[in-house]
Amino acid sequence: MNLPDRPRAFLCRRFTPAVEAALAERFELVVNEDDSILSAAQISARAQDCHLLFVTATEPVTAEVMAALSPTLAVVATLSVGHDHIDLAAARERGVQVLHTPDVLSDACAEIALMLLLNACRRGFEADRLVRSGAWQGWAPTQLLGMGLVGRRLGIFGMGRIGRAIAERARAFGLAIHYHNRSRLVAELEAGATYHQTLEAMLPDIDILMIAAPGSPALKGVLDAERLARLPAGAVVVNISRGDLVDDEALIDALRRGHIRGAGLDVFANEPHVHPGYRGLDNVFLSPHIGSATHETRDAMGWLLIDGIEALRAGRTPDNLLR
Ligand code: DGY
Repeated sequence: MNLPDRPRAFLCRRFTPAVEAALAERFELVVNEDDSILSAAQISARAQDCHLLFVTATEPVTAEVMAALSPTLAVVATLSVGHDHIDLAAARERGVQVLHTPDVLSDACAEIALMLLLNACRRGFEADRLVRSGAWQGWAPTQLLGMGLVGRRLGIFGMGRIGRAIAERARAFGLAIHYHNRSRLVAELEAGATYHQTLEAMLPDIDILMIAAPGSPALKGVLDAERLARLPAGAVVVNISRGDLVDDEALIDALRRGHIRGAGLDVFANEPHVHPGYRGLDNVFLSPHIGSATHETRDAMGWLLIDGIEALRAGRTPDNLLR
């Protein structure tokens, strides 16, 4: 890849101080100082003449953005493993390389998945509110009874690196692991988990559904009323993937009726606008898309992008290049 010694780079969001310092050392860096979320039109206007565009999952990198920044733009580097916000076909067409951040965030995302699972099963939101509000009258034998995990069945939809990191932790809580994935894993990666060829087939056989499949237009609304109805009464739903995989109206209705006992959600369709139906429900634990939000992980994600760019400049193909 032919780039000047100090390529021009536009940073759409504020990265960690260590990563920003490393970027400024290497590139002619222009930063979106106030960390606001930029629209496609704003990116097109503000990143003019950049060779490198650093984005996150909040920036739509559309065919229009690629066209506006062409032919100077050489690399789009996204601080996310998900890439549903990037038009990969348009990137290919214009010879733009796209880097993302797999692997380094799997542990952090799995931790949040377990946080959501535990809070949904053991009524974390209600428990916190009871103490915080001052309404707690003291211990009681039937207070805030939840669903225990030992011997329950966790169904992981999407058994990639993050799904497997969740499974590893969930086993320690005594959960039996079921999964559905596009293809069955080799025995070593499956580690005794039960494979289901379709999502539909898995749903009646599990107590907790964990959505960890990558976001994609093909999966939009996949957890709809029909599939929710296939889960046993009293099941729990957790989503750490992308919000639009869930039909919000259908899940809210199932939560209100008690068919779904509780949900833990870290991601939402149309973020940051959360469907108002969730806010009024006690049996939902909500977090603001913090799957990979640890100091170590966000640094590691930034370094992975920098290393990827250095590899491309040296004529190598980094593992985190999307094709
Ligand atoms: C990811 O890495 O895709 C996370 O959802 C953060 O955007």
